[in-house]
Amino acid sequence: MDFQLKTLTVARAAAEKSDVLIVLVGSAPLASKDPLSVQIAAARKAGDLPDKAGKLLSLYRPEDVAAARVVLAAIGDGKPASVRSGVIAAVNAAKAQSPKRVVLAFAQEAEPAAVASAVLAAADASYVYTATKSKAEPRSIRQVTVGVADAAPVGAAFGQARATVEGIEFAKEWGNRPANHATPTMLAEAAKGLGKLPGIKCEVLGPKEVDKLGMGAFAAVAQGSAEPLRFIVLRYQGGPKDQAPVVLVGKGITFDTGGVSLKPAAEMDEMKFDMCGAASVLGTFRALAGIQPAINVIGLIPSCENMNDGRAIKPGDVVTSMSGQTIEILNTDAEGRLILCDALTYAKRFDPAAVIDIATLTGACVVALGGVRSGLFSSDDALAAALEAAGESSQDRCWRLPLDDEYAEGLKTNFADVANVAGRAGGAITAAKFLQRFTADFAWAHLDIAGTAWKSGAAKGSTGRPVGLLVSYLTGRAQDGAATAGAGNAKGNAKGKGDSKAAARKARSVQ
Ligand code: BES
Ligand code: MN
Ligand code: ZN
Repeated sequence: MDFQLKTLTVARAAAEKSDVLIVLVGSAPLASKDPLSVQIAAARKAGDLPDKAGKLLSLYRPEDVAAARVVLAAIGDGKPASVRSGVIAAVNAAKAQSPKRVVLAFAQEAEPAAVASAVLAAADASYVYTATKSKAEPRSIRQVTVGVADAAPVGAAFGQARATVEGIEFAKEWGNRPANHATPTMLAEAAKGLGKLPGIKCEVLGPKEVDKLGMGAFAAVAQGSAEPLRFIVLRYQGGPKDQAPVVLVGKGITFDTGGVSLKPAAEMDEMKFDMCGAASVLGTFRALAGIQPAINVIGLIPSCENMNDGRAIKPGDVVTSMSGQTIEILNTDAEGRLILCDALTYAKRFDPAAVIDIATLTGACVVALGGVRSGLFSSDDALAAALEAAGESSQDRCWRLPLDDEYAEGLKTNFADVANVAGRAGGAITAAKFLQRFTADFAWAHLDIAGTAWKSGAAKGSTGRPVGLLVSYLTGRAQDGAATAGAGNAKGNAKGKGDSKAAARKARSVQ
């Protein structure tokens, strides 16, 4: 799907050739007196287009309009969330006629964030999965022209949104693919493809290298599968070489049967989504390639299947992680933390400014927060604040949950340094407490996306979250000044501990 940005008044938008013209109408009065604006004002006055984001009014061949169909969409206060409701409703309504060319015009002045929101929403509402259908009908919309009163001030936000769409759709695509079309090897090939984009490099490790590194926890999960594991290392360099990178770690379980602690059959197919953390890392790199922010980012993806097999791990098995800590695997279904802990230990070698892991980690997080907000855990207040702010500004929200040490009590065992599960209570938090044991050396945050990465039911499918949040965080961080390495894009937040480390390193390199 191709997005364009144009300076268009309502009158000019009416003259644009397209299959459907969507006019986004906010609460503010309409200034111009062209026929379409007059008609919109009349409809509003008559109460036919209520001033509530998402309300629609369809017109057919109105006079002086080049497009046969016009959809007026209310966007209320014009804030990003309202714009999103309006655009989603309008694109869904317009979809029935399979339009190829769409003009999406703001009737009033639009903030950069509102324009970005329109781009993301138009893409979201028109995405179609086709990869494994024999006679797939692809998305009809080929071109979306976004019309605004003045293109210049919103150009940067528009460009970033367009690149973010590419990242989100990359993540959706891989999230949606069934496990036999998205094996660890295939995921690694996709990552290698990203390695060809500007500023990105990719390296893939296999079972031998992972054994050599001593990643005993990761290897243990993989040992029950016929598919060989892959450890993907992505690098994006947009900042100076000596600038400490942000490391993203994505859970890449391409299918989670639960292993010997087998999951129930009902809805087990959804466990193909257990690599959505990995997909969000891949998608973020795709977006970075398009945006080219001044920042360094490393992506780490431990990827394997969690299967039931003669060689599979058994409850009670004790494995040695790369950190040297031994782990008693009391439940083979708590496999995500086992592959992540070794990736977190690996992250240390990059002397990172911050490490963020992203994982469909616990059903408990779905119970706690549902599908609206991802769970956020962090040992670093500045990093947490920056991620919260990025979530708000990208409408890809998260909610911070606690990490009190008392929550780790249940992870104690007589047979190893730590057990991989505690009781049922506070399951999302105890999982985070397990991970925290492997993050002593850097500022760390964990996003549990079990509830937000995909939707069940009729709209079953990957959401591409939290690519929006991550891109917003990273670009905000780049903007805050590669020079000072601020902790993120939260307004006025303090420097994180990782940042003083980066500064120290910079100082060292100058000497
Ligand atoms: N991939 C699942 C988490 C999950 C479950 C995501 C349901 C979405 C919906 C993870 O590997 C898992 O199985 N976690 C267990 C942990 C438990 C054994 C402590 C869970 O949440 O049930
Ligand atoms: Mn599991
Ligand atoms: Zn899992």
